[in-house]
Amino acid sequence: MTVKEFFDPDTFTLSYIVFDSSTKDSVVIDPVLNYDPKSSTYSLDSVGQLTDFIHENKLTLHYILETHAHADHLSGSQFLKQNFPKAKVAIGENITKVQDLFKNYFNLSEEFKADGSQFDELLVLGKVFYAGSLWFKTLPTPGHTPACCCFLTEGAVFSGDTLFMPDYGTGRCDFPSGSAEDLYESITKQLYTLPDNTIVYVGHDYLPNGRGLKCASTIGDEKRDNIRLKATTKKEEFIRYRETRDAELETPKLLLQSIQTNIRAGNIPSPESNQISYLKIPIQLKPSF
Ligand SMILES: [Fe+2]
Repeated sequence: MTVKEFFDPDTFTLSYIVFDSSTKDSVVIDPVLNYDPKSSTYSLDSVGQLTDFIHENKLTLHYILETHAHADHLSGSQFLKQNFPKAKVAIGENITKVQDLFKNYFNLSEEFKADGSQFDELLVLGKVFYAGSLWFKTLPTPGHTPACCCFLTEGAVFSGDTLFMPDYGTGRCDFPSGSAEDLYESITKQLYTLPDNTIVYVGHDYLPNGRGLKCASTIGDEKRDNIRLKATTKKEEFIRYRETRDAELETPKLLLQSIQTNIRAGNIPSPESNQISYLKIPIQLKPSF
């Protein structure tokens, strides 16, 4: 199994192509749609990079996987799928919880079903699925969002926003129905029980303290060095830190645009009669999800 990472510097997102160089089977994890909120325009630069790599290496793309409904970037999944129509866009089955939550918040019409049907496949938590010669197990890791998953494969786990590089810590937990307690349980029971030499491919790298980009650590490194949650960190200590820190963080820049696109499996809304698509932006005294 080989892993190629792609970095989007605007949102600090890491996307991955995981492939078997002998069989050419592959999956993409967490593709990005480049989106400029000032002009509300998108570009396909990141999708193009993934597409070019798949073509250049003559890979067969089986799945486009989402670790969760991202709140900081729009998913490039549907635009990538246009280039590889046989690939299935898939996410953990608890996405329906997030759809339900935001269907009300965005006052979406009855046409929007909170049943996950916008995705090609809902991944059963705790189960293994196959992409040709590759296998992945969907680990349920709620906390950052109630529907987050990590994808375990041979010797490696793709941690999404559950666990970051040891010098940055973990994902935030102030997303609606996020939970610091759940995140603690997810990391300690689902990830820190894996062998220490398991490689951890993280979903973002924020380049802390000006260091260069890193996309991978190991479970042993995280347990020993993660600045927010080591193997020895007590649950109460983590919850106290996370809740205090999250209260100081700004709302993600692309929250409203990202969520309403990503709960539609990366589909932007259908064009209106003038052939332009529109997102909904609520206006309130303060956010209330
Ligand atoms: Fe996220």
